[in-house]
Amino acid sequence: MNDKRKLVLVGTGFVGMSMAYSFLNTGGIDELVLIDVDKEKAIGEAMDLQHGLPYARGKMSIKAGDYSECKDASIVVVSAGVAQKDGETRLELTNRNAKIMKSVVEQIRDSGFGGILVIASNPVDSMTYLAWKVSGYPKERVIGSGTILDTARLRYLMSEYLNISSSNIHAYIMGEHGDSSFVPWTHAYVGAKSLLDLLDEKHKDLSDLHAIYTQVQQAAYEIIKRKRSTYYGIGLSLNRLVHAILDDENVILTVSAYQNGEYKQKGLYIGVPAMINAQGIKEIIPLALNEVDQAKFNHSCDTLREINEKSME
Ligand code: 2OP
Repeated sequence: MNDKRKLVLVGTGFVGMSMAYSFLNTGGIDELVLIDVDKEKAIGEAMDLQHGLPYARGKMSIKAGDYSECKDASIVVVSAGVAQKDGETRLELTNRNAKIMKSVVEQIRDSGFGGILVIASNPVDSMTYLAWKVSGYPKERVIGSGTILDTARLRYLMSEYLNISSSNIHAYIMGEHGDSSFVPWTHAYVGAKSLLDLLDEKHKDLSDLHAIYTQVQQAAYEIIKRKRSTYYGIGLSLNRLVHAILDDENVILTVSAYQNGEYKQKGLYIGVPAMINAQGIKEIIPLALNEVDQAKFNHSCDTLREINEKSME
C-alpha cells in the first residue's frame, strides 16, 4: 500500500461527509479528496472542511477532485447513492443504487486504483458484491461496511443494559445489514465471561437481549422516522474501518466479506467477523454457529442472493 495516507471519498452526502468530518477530529490521514457527481457540492464541502483545519487534529490536505485522484490513493470509500426514506427498506434501494455503483466503480477501476475499496452505499452487501464483480479486484481488497454499525449499536445498548464499558462487550451482529441480521448469542462475551453464564448468574434470561437486538434491527427506521437519515454512527464506523486498514491493525470488525465456505456459504458478500489490516480483509473469523444461527445466516444469504441477481441485471 501507498505510504501516503490518501483517502478518496466518492459521494459527499451526509454519510460520506460525516466520515470526512470525523477525520478532522481523529486525524490519521494525510490527504482527503472528495468526488461527487455534483462537482460544485464537492467543492463546497471541501471548502467547509478546509476552514476547520486550523482547529483540526493534525495536518491534512483536503480538496475536491475527479476519479484520476484514485490512482495513488490508499483507500477509496464509496457512499454514493440514494438513502432510504421513511418506511423504505434498504433492499428497496437496489435498482437505483446498482446503476450508480456500477458507474462509480468502473471509473475507480479505470483510474488504475490499487488500494482497498470500501463500500458503504445500501443495500451494502449487494452493492459490495456488485463493486467486487465490476472492479475485478481480489476479494480481500473489496470490503463492505456490512454490520459494523449494527455491531456498534448492539455493543452500545448492551453496555447500557449491563452497565459495563462497550469496549468489554464482544458480541456481533452478523448477516445482512438489514432486516435478516442476527446475533449468535452463544458467541457473546462480556470481558472473558460468556454472556449466557453472566445472565445465569444474574438470574436473567435472554428476553431483554432479544429486545435489544430488535432495537438494533429497527434503529435505522427509528432514526429515519425522526431525522430523515442516519449518518454520524456510520461515519464513525467508516473512520474505524479506515484506521484499521491504514494502521495495519489486524483488528476484528464485522464487515461485509466475500464468503468462501467459512460459514458454509459461497459466492456472496455478507456481514461476518473478519480480521482487517493493510491487505483489507486478512481473513474471516469462523465461529461454529449452532443450528438455529446457521439457519438464520442461510436465510440472510438467500435474501441477499436474490438481491444480488437483481443488482447485476
Ligand atoms: C443505517 O443502518 C441506514 O444503513 C443505515 O443507519
